[in-house]
Amino acid sequence: MAEDTSRSLGPVILLGPPGAGKGTQAKRMVERYDVPQISTGDLLREHVKNGTSLGLLAKDVMARGELVPDELLYDMVSERLRRADCQRGFVLDGFPRTAAQAGWLDAFLENKFFDNSKGGKCLPIVVQIDVGYNEILHRLTGRRTCPTCGRIYNAYLHPPRTEGVCDVDGSKLVIRNDDREEVIRERLRAYEAQTRPVAEYYERKGRLIRVDGTLPVDQVSELILGDLENRGGC
Ligand code: AP5
Repeated sequence: MAEDTSRSLGPVILLGPPGAGKGTQAKRMVERYDVPQISTGDLLREHVKNGTSLGLLAKDVMARGELVPDELLYDMVSERLRRADCQRGFVLDGFPRTAAQAGWLDAFLENKFFDNSKGGKCLPIVVQIDVGYNEILHRLTGRRTCPTCGRIYNAYLHPPRTEGVCDVDGSKLVIRNDDREEVIRERLRAYEAQTRPVAEYYERKGRLIRVDGTLPVDQVSELILGDLENRGGC
């Protein structure tokens, strides 16, 4: 249930390595502000599942843990951001992930998304969630997800009440295809080479908030939501 819908949150970008907790924290923000979570990973997995032309192009790239080419993302993201539910704000989880994507997003928000004729302009707040390699490995090899409601569990750190079964709707939990150690290594390599510079780009623009992602989930949420209360909103 949304707690605070009285003002527009504006765009929020969650950055961080695989397993940092972007999806987990995005879901908390959705509950608090009643804005959509836009996960490019989830959208791409949906395309793969449905066998669309984008899904066919992305499938093997994702299975290897590499990044899907930039130009394949733009139509999918712009179509999603133009839907009415994004007008009060949205949480981008997994996008932008390259310097080119960050530049594309800035231009999109500036020229196509906000109605600048009314002087309206709302820059994204960017939250970088930091977590080290060993913790990431532990988290991703233990991750279990509900295919029905999307709730995220961890077999070691916060398991469901009944092993392998969602607490909320009783669905059988699934393990993601790319949560295998050899693929996790490639995902981390892609993160270091292509996504870390995105955080530096936003830091130079004074828009980056860093959060210690090794803290318990509730504490990470408190830190992020506290920062958004202070700096967020349009
Ligand atoms: P994507 O789905 O975005 O995966 P990712 O970035 O690798 O991130 P994850 O979803 O693995 O982790 P997360 O940070 O959301 O962590 P979570 O909250 O689940 O991308 C997948 C693929 O799609 C990419 O490899 C690429 O091929 C493609 N792709 C997507 N976007 C793209 C783009 N823009 N450009 C190009 N290609 C793109 O948490 C992980 C685990 O840790 C869970 O078990 C959770 O319960 C646990 N946990 C979370 N927080 C804590 C905590 N504080 N303490 C203890 N445990 C915690």
